[in-house]
Amino acid sequence: MSKNEEYCKKAHMLIPAGAHTYSRTDEVFPGNAPKVIERSKGVYTWDVDGNKYIDYGMACRSVTVGYDYDRISEAAIRQIHNGNTATKASKIEVEAAQEMCNLFPWVEMIKFAKNGSTVTSAATKLARAYTGRKYIARCREHSFFSYDDWFIGSTVMNSGIPQEIQDLTLQFSFNDIDSVKKLFDEYKGEIAALIMEPCDTEEPINDFLQKVRKLCTDYGVVYILDEMITGFRWDLLGACRYYGVEPDLVTFGKGMANGFSVAALGGKREIMDLGGLTPGKERVFLISTTHGAEMSSLGALVETIHVYKELNVTEHIWNMGSRLVRGLNEIASEYSLQEYFYIQGADCSPNFVVCNKDKQPSLEYRTVFCQELVKQGILMPYIAIAYEHTEKEISDTLEAAREAMKVYRDSLNGEVGRFIEGNVIKPVFRKFN
Ligand SMILES: Cc1ncc(COP(=O)(O)O)c(C=O)c1O
Repeated sequence: MSKNEEYCKKAHMLIPAGAHTYSRTDEVFPGNAPKVIERSKGVYTWDVDGNKYIDYGMACRSVTVGYDYDRISEAAIRQIHNGNTATKASKIEVEAAQEMCNLFPWVEMIKFAKNGSTVTSAATKLARAYTGRKYIARCREHSFFSYDDWFIGSTVMNSGIPQEIQDLTLQFSFNDIDSVKKLFDEYKGEIAALIMEPCDTEEPINDFLQKVRKLCTDYGVVYILDEMITGFRWDLLGACRYYGVEPDLVTFGKGMANGFSVAALGGKREIMDLGGLTPGKERVFLISTTHGAEMSSLGALVETIHVYKELNVTEHIWNMGSRLVRGLNEIASEYSLQEYFYIQGADCSPNFVVCNKDKQPSLEYRTVFCQELVKQGILMPYIAIAYEHTEKEISDTLEAAREAMKVYRDSLNGEVGRFIEGNVIKPVFRKFN
């Protein structure tokens, strides 16, 4: 038995789903993908059998500079030697808060946590407390905001969540301002917050973000932009700066500390301070966690911001993304597959779509393409470019993609099942196993 198989068996025996994130489970990867990772450096990752891959998952998109980037790791280690945690607020806790508030004009106060779900949920609670209203409007097309009931209750995986809670989350469509207005009119005076990502695989058009801003102001709804993925990728100041929009509350996680566990809720003082100590105000239990201000992670956050500023990280991510998108499109055209394999979204976060014979997105054909990339040492469940993806990694990837495209073309001309060597990739959100 290979070490991959051995550890994989143990993982499934000991951990429900075999990993601590559904998007890191075996079923969302092709069967030949590495099962268990031992270590990573830069944009390379090694499994427990010593196989080496160029990684495009980058740990759920959280590593935006590179794994174990020396300057950032050293900053974290310095804080470990300062004790890593403290009985009162720590110096680095205040410094990290200062860095974030200096960076974002729309962030007057900030609260740190370890996970993105904690801060998006906290944003909805704060909005409810601020407005005295109960409904949350969330964007239908955006796949994930939190593992908490207010969000998961609005997905097909709503087992264990009472109907009363499910009913409190409403949905609108991205780039459809009428769907927002309709909801705001139907539930006038009852919607506390609207939450969405500034951009997912579809870019905002016709000033959608700005129009939502205006509607939120007009209807007294708290505008929450979730920059978990877009933050520290579209721009150092996030997609809010890139698209020119100011939210009431904003949430960050993933890239902000190059893979260290930091998430943040920030925004207007008037709203954030409800979680504070202002005398005479009703108390809101905002976020209060033992490990929320872990010093090593906050040390990594501060250094990550410095690295971004000095090395212009987001410009590099855009450039390498464009290079990869151009290359993949050219290869698809070489095989006359441009209507079957195409790229959506912004170049800094491209989404590749693999279709079946009817030109419909297909997980079976995606499995073939991803499986063939894995054979050549490319782990690409989706594309998350980091600063350490350089011209070399992009051209190695394109060489591998040419081979994978050839097999994908053959599978379109034949029986796809015969090309799939393990499981077919599955979506996370489905009702039954
Ligand atoms: C847009 C978005 N918001 C929130 C979250 C939740 O973050 P976390 O996994 O850190 O709880 C994610 C995670 O994938 C996300 O993609």
